[in-house]
Amino acid sequence: MIRASRPALTWALALAISMLLGAAPLSAQAAADMRSVRDGVYTDAQSDRGEAAFRRNCASCHTLDEFTGLGFMRQWMDRPVFDLFDLVRNTMPQDFPGLLTARQYADIVAFFLKQNGLPAGESELPATRVSLAVIVIQPPPSR
Ligand code: HEC
Repeated sequence: MIRASRPALTWALALAISMLLGAAPLSAQAAADMRSVRDGVYTDAQSDRGEAAFRRNCASCHTLDEFTGLGFMRQWMDRPVFDLFDLVRNTMPQDFPGLLTARQYADIVAFFLKQNGLPAGESELPATRVSLAVIVIQPPPSR
């Protein structure tokens, strides 16, 4: 009897722990809200701000082509924008991680999207986990 119920208990425990860690699987609603960077997920003004922030805080160590083109897509395709945002926010600038505001990191990601040929839209790229986790990185639509 006890043995029979153990898998269910283990599963419930695993779910509880993953929820505590904030790593719960996407809810059905979140899955329905899934969209991609092709849908116009940042604004031109935001990308302009991101460009300025990139020049000031990143360009001393990086060239833009590290974040554009095939190499970039090969690394990031099919991953949520949150992964890129989170990596940059937690590790960059390498000499001062976390220097910028979440908003500024989102601006820089918006700038990267634009440089990869992805379209601007009506609203800014958000700077929160819950919003960025449901936007998937995809290559630009072929012209
Ligand atoms: C002081 C130099 C320096 C500055 C300033 C800097 N970086 Fe970096 N960055 C590095 C180095 C070195 C690496 C490669 C080593 C690594 O992957 O940890 C790197 C790697 C990266 C990567 C790739 C990480 C990966 O694992 O694929 C990204 C994305 C990135 N930087 C973005 C930025 C952004 C955005 C800024 C500005 C906010 C920035 N960096 C500022 C030195 C810097």
